[in-house]
Amino acid sequence: MGRGKGTLALLLVSAGAAPSFADPIEDKAAICSACHGENGIPNDKAIPIIWGQNEGYIYIELRDMKKGARKNDQMAPIVENLERDDMMALAAYFAAKPWPNLDQPRAAPADANHFAVMANSGQCGACHQSGFKGAGTQPRLAGQTYEYLLKTMLDFRSGARANNDWMTSLLKTFSEDDIKQMARVLAGL
Ligand code: HEC
Ligand code: HEC
Repeated sequence: MGRGKGTLALLLVSAGAAPSFADPIEDKAAICSACHGENGIPNDKAIPIIWGQNEGYIYIELRDMKKGARKNDQMAPIVENLERDDMMALAAYFAAKPWPNLDQPRAAPADANHFAVMANSGQCGACHQSGFKGAGTQPRLAGQTYEYLLKTMLDFRSGARANNDWMTSLLKTFSEDDIKQMARVLAGL
């Protein structure tokens, strides 16, 4: 076993990994903690949880923000300095962290019942998966902050968030009250 590991390390070094003792991704990730939180709990409720979010999804959002397909004044200067490899490494880094529990209240039965009807008509679970934990490039919604879920769904609906046409057209079929109800239920999962 010991020999096997040694061989693997040699292979990695010879494959061209930079001989560095510091972890450059740790340094880059430290910048993110200023807003997304030291322990995974965002410093402001309008800022999303990224600890434990799905890797493919984190990467796509960083890429879309860099391309300008998703616009946000706070994230724009951050992604400007990130290359593709940094974004992939950051996505893997944050996806491997545990999702924090914000302990948001569970939705009242009336909200939950109407949500079930809306989720069925909008087929939310087909993409966001069982328990709304998503997978790959589909985001986790369960336990995300209420304020952020509400903001981003209204942004899709108004076109302020324009990086996914499907979500925009789908959310246009719901009222603002419906969307508030969805955010309450998802936040409390
Ligand atoms: C100055 C505060 C700030 C910093 C620093 C910051 N972010 Fe953000 N981030 C935000 C805000 C605010 C949003 C929500 C944008 C919106 O509402 O569309 C966001 C959104 C995101 C999203 C999208 C999440 C989702 O659920 O769609 C990802 C991924 C992300 N940030 C990753 C990072 C990474 C990685 C870093 C560090 C390299 C970082 N952020 C640094 C404020 C910040
Ligand atoms: C056909 C697949 C599909 C269906 C159906 C779907 N979604 Fe999505 N949803 C996505 C994808 C993909 C994204 C990420 C878009 C992107 O790249 O920014 C997303 C993003 C979201 C986000 C933003 C998450 C974040 O962290 O910013 C919310 C909230 C959301 N969907 C809620 C819903 C709800 C509620 C329903 C049902 C009414 C629904 N979705 C139905 C695929 C789907």
